Amino acid sequence: MKPKVILTQKYQDEAIQQLYREFQLVIVEDSGKSLAEVLKENPDTQALISFLSDRIDKKIIALGKNLRIIANYAVGYNNIDVGYAVQKGIAVTNTPDVLTNATADFTMALILATARRVVEGDNFVRQGKFTGWGANLMLGKELNNSILGIVGMGRIGLAAAQRAMAFGMRVFYYDTTRKKDLEKKYGFRYMPFRDLVSQADIISVHIPSSPETRRLFNLEVFDRMKKDAIFINASRGDLVDESSLAEKLEKNELFGAGLDVYEYEPQVTEKLKKLKNVVLAPHLGSATYKARMGMAQMTIDNVKQVLAGKTPQNLIEECKCLSGLEPSA
Ligand code: DGY
Repeated sequence: MKPKVILTQKYQDEAIQQLYREFQLVIVEDSGKSLAEVLKENPDTQALISFLSDRIDKKIIALGKNLRIIANYAVGYNNIDVGYAVQKGIAVTNTPDVLTNATADFTMALILATARRVVEGDNFVRQGKFTGWGANLMLGKELNNSILGIVGMGRIGLAAAQRAMAFGMRVFYYDTTRKKDLEKKYGFRYMPFRDLVSQADIISVHIPSSPETRRLFNLEVFDRMKKDAIFINASRGDLVDESSLAEKLEKNELFGAGLDVYEYEPQVTEKLKKLKNVVLAPHLGSATYKARMGMAQMTIDNVKQVLAGKTPQNLIEECKCLSGLEPSA
């Protein structure tokens, strides 16, 4: 009998076909039921493949009586009660690396779109307001020689910084651990968080969401930024107090913001939608064919490894204490 796997929402078709070949697959999205109902009906489920928009809380985890792995289809896993999963001996995995380039590219897209007012310009043309070239029409900001402040110099932060260097930007960063090797190799400059936000021309966030980082970007932090700074967030929405950001943008106390994620996603603060100096994207950071297929494949590989009694390749740090998983070959 093939092991039972639950996939919460549909992803790449090729990956779904692979899951059908190897497992008894139940897709919640197709069932017209909630994940909780599907789990109750399928107590023999051994693996759950979840999306970042699925709340995998205590209640859900407790329903997975025979669950051995929760394979999250995302690099971030703040949607999962990891502490409880560990308590239950359930492995949690994520999908790092395969989405690094896509997300770093998108960070640059947000930086360029915000600095050069691309979306505002697009709307202007579509609304028939473009009547001719103008010396003062929608002037923006140049990236060359400006300071990019990276908050979180992990894989995606580094990939974004490397791209920014090609645009002549100077990279300053803050991270909980200083990366002297990167400072030496690329000339990055480390700074305490509060100094970084007040010195950078463009601040880009690349840290995970956790109780410690929630609303790290609040009014006090936005007040410290330069009046013509640009704020970019392609990591997690709850790192930001969105109403304070909207207030600063409305008063033109920041040049602009480029956002891919939202505090109460998929809800977006109404005020933000009315402002011209903010670019709003629907969480597209990893949205390339290559990255999404790589992410889907990783979820399948991780499930297969755990169900074969091996340590999965993308076991998250918090689960490394789990015993009973043999190292993967
Ligand atoms: C992730 O994997 O955490 C990304 O936010 C998905 O786009």
